[in-house]
Amino acid sequence: MSKLYKSSTRRGVLKGAAAVGLAGVFPMPTIAQAKPVKVGLMLPYSGTFAQLGENITHAIEMHVAEKGGKFGGREIQLVKLDDESKPELGLQNADRLIKRDNVDVLIGTVHSGVQMAIHKAVTESGTLCIVPNAGAVAVTRNLCAKNVFRASFSNWQPAYGMGVALGKRGVKKAAWITWDYAAGAESGEGFKQGFEANGGQVVQTLTLKFPETNFQPLLAQVPGLGVDAIGAFFAGGGAINFVKDYAAAGLKVPLVGSGFLTEGVLGPQGAAAEGVETALHYGDGLENPKNNAFRTAFKAKAGRDADVYAVQGYDSAQLLGIGLEAVKGNIDNEAALYKAMREAKIDSPRGPISFSKSQEVVQHIYLRKATGGLNKVTGIAVENLADPGTGCKL
Ligand code: BEZ
Repeated sequence: MSKLYKSSTRRGVLKGAAAVGLAGVFPMPTIAQAKPVKVGLMLPYSGTFAQLGENITHAIEMHVAEKGGKFGGREIQLVKLDDESKPELGLQNADRLIKRDNVDVLIGTVHSGVQMAIHKAVTESGTLCIVPNAGAVAVTRNLCAKNVFRASFSNWQPAYGMGVALGKRGVKKAAWITWDYAAGAESGEGFKQGFEANGGQVVQTLTLKFPETNFQPLLAQVPGLGVDAIGAFFAGGGAINFVKDYAAAGLKVPLVGSGFLTEGVLGPQGAAAEGVETALHYGDGLENPKNNAFRTAFKAKAGRDADVYAVQGYDSAQLLGIGLEAVKGNIDNEAALYKAMREAKIDSPRGPISFSKSQEVVQHIYLRKATGGLNKVTGIAVENLADPGTGCKL
């Protein structure tokens, strides 16, 4: 499918012209003079994850601007589409970018359910895809593909780190509360594995539908669970409400989580978040020159502080830039492009990152504590953590 489909794309037309010898009749453009590389940004710009999509976008634009608007000599043209975090619209939205707008690259998305729809579209068409957030594990496990890279995390990674840290501390029983969709369930699985490998036990999982925020019926069950900690996955607007409702319920059981629970939302969460411990691949107080420069530039562009979503957007753009530099803008040289991306060692604001065989980020998972409006890094839960990549044959 991929070859047939590609022959009708703009790139395919250029290739075909050269093949029938038109270069001798018409002057053919060199790659450097060729059309821009079209990059589709399929992200949420409305709904509970809107700010996540905006921060990813700001950071991508920032890196493109830093490189003078070009990667590997080719102008980068961004085409934005609001996916509204709606899985049911995912396939048609991805098809719009790939088939109607003829994008060469698709950077997307945030929501794991929408990611699965994108995954079908990009694996069928052969379009290069860089995932700037959504952690759906299948993307770099059993459904991994040579044209799909993730610059963010797998849902398993941060929650696994939190489970390890909690278990090592001697906590014995915990429950998991989350939205009933892939990111919540897969984070729960990571938390359970990390916790139970270190002497703990997850005794219960409580869920509600995405993106609902009526947490009261779940919170009312917490005192009866007999647990020493509650672990949770929520993000964006839902995380703001959950942390506030948890504090308002006056529960004595400590709240911990995958770091999205407090990431980018500490301002609106206010005092309710104070002391909440989470694990994530980024945090406040990471002192490295890249992070310092990145945070200053992001604040100047976006008018707010950088967070993990901004970092992931920036690294998605860095990854594409490294690939296109390696092939001097010739995006059709797929073997060399993907090799360069797979072997990339990126100087990320989160610290150095590399990629596993399944094209997933290998990274430190930091332990953080919400303190005075910051997710202060207190240590490293797991160093250089790679997703298991189970079932990936790359
Ligand atoms: C997800 O759906 O994979 C996701 C959404 C927001 C934050 C983290 C993960």
